[in-house]
Amino acid sequence: MQSLYLSLFEECRREYERALAGGDEKAAAEFAEKCAGILRKIAEKTPSRAGLYLEKARKWEATARELREGAERSKAVPPGSAGGGLTGDEYTPLVEGLISHSAITWEDIGGLEEVKKLLARNVALAFAKKPEAVKPWRGILLFGPPGTGKTLLASAAAGSLNATFFNVKASDVLSKYYGESSKLISALYRVARERAPSMVFIDEIDALSPKRENVHEATRRTLATLLTELDGFKGKEERFVLTLASTNTPWDLDEAILSRFPLRVYVPLPDKEAVKAIVRIHTRGLDVSRLDLDAIAEESVKRFYSGREIASLCQAAIHHMLEEMNPELGELDALSRIGELELKVRPLEMRDFEEAFRRIKSPLTRKDIERYEKWAEEFGG
Ligand SMILES: Nc1ncnc2c1ncn2[C@@H]1O[C@H](COP(=O)(O)OP(=O)(O)OP(=O)(O)O)[C@@H](O)[C@H]1O
Ligand SMILES: [Mg+2]
Repeated sequence: MQSLYLSLFEECRREYERALAGGDEKAAAEFAEKCAGILRKIAEKTPSRAGLYLEKARKWEATARELREGAERSKAVPPGSAGGGLTGDEYTPLVEGLISHSAITWEDIGGLEEVKKLLARNVALAFAKKPEAVKPWRGILLFGPPGTGKTLLASAAAGSLNATFFNVKASDVLSKYYGESSKLISALYRVARERAPSMVFIDEIDALSPKRENVHEATRRTLATLLTELDGFKGKEERFVLTLASTNTPWDLDEAILSRFPLRVYVPLPDKEAVKAIVRIHTRGLDVSRLDLDAIAEESVKRFYSGREIASLCQAAIHHMLEEMNPELGELDALSRIGELELKVRPLEMRDFEEAFRRIKSPLTRKDIERYEKWAEEFGG
């Protein structure tokens, strides 16, 4: 039974890592707390090694706390910005905070086989030793509907490399370092060049676009800085920095941005085969032999589910199974006996998924998809 808890823990830790790699500190904090809870249960079940597990649990609790505080703190204005602003060098520690280590691998991404290959090839080309005439793309744009795996792809690309990976969410940079965000971007590229080979991932780059309404001076400045950095320093021999950017509103990007991202990769909704692969990934460790994966895939495609909805669908189905197998979990006094409870599992059944389908709704419509396809046709490539 302990192994079930361990696999639950693994699953939870993965979610934590995914959330963290995706820059979602709040979700990461929640998963970190869940990890701690599971470890405490394991500690109760295995008195001989309780100390070890409790120690681990405390570390996870501390991580959760730090993530929450970090999320709070970063809402505040950075120190020194009230006066004449920070000088370039003072940004280095801030930039170093953007360096992340990705635990995501290509195997964690279902479907998207062509996209994965294209990305792997171009990233490899960017960092390989090559004759001078070979000029790799400096900028690659991933675009597509929300939840289709764009952030995952960037994380996997980074994880597959030995390069320093800077993970930047454009909207965060703008809100956290308001007025200073342009300096932060220059510092970012300066540090990235120092640490080359480097990869910079700019998530939700549309937040910087001047096509949006009410664009502020600071935003424009930041965009201008970014565009210059993307151009690189002409003439000077330079250490290579690859920039990957992602958006789910590519039509918001203006020409200046687009021209810096000559390689534009469409990350579409999953087709039937991809749905099956994603379901397998998100039900790892459970028996799925009784599922009609074709039927699940067909229904998911019909409903315009993205990978994110399929992940939620699997979670909902798993919960349905767990609730049915462990009715005592709902009893109020169960919490006081939590150390004695043993989670029971059974193979997943279609009725778990039927229930889950009732709960998961896709935010997308056919019209939305057509808009992406049209944009891909016109500007993709
Ligand atoms: N192809 C996939 N394989 C496995 N899981 C996926 C896939 N696509 C999405 N997911 C699941 O959905 C979650 C969200 O994916 P991700 O953050 O990469 O989407 P995104 O395209 O960056 O979305 P957004 O445009 O909203 O930023 C992932 O953490 C993962 O759980
Ligand atoms: Mg994303």
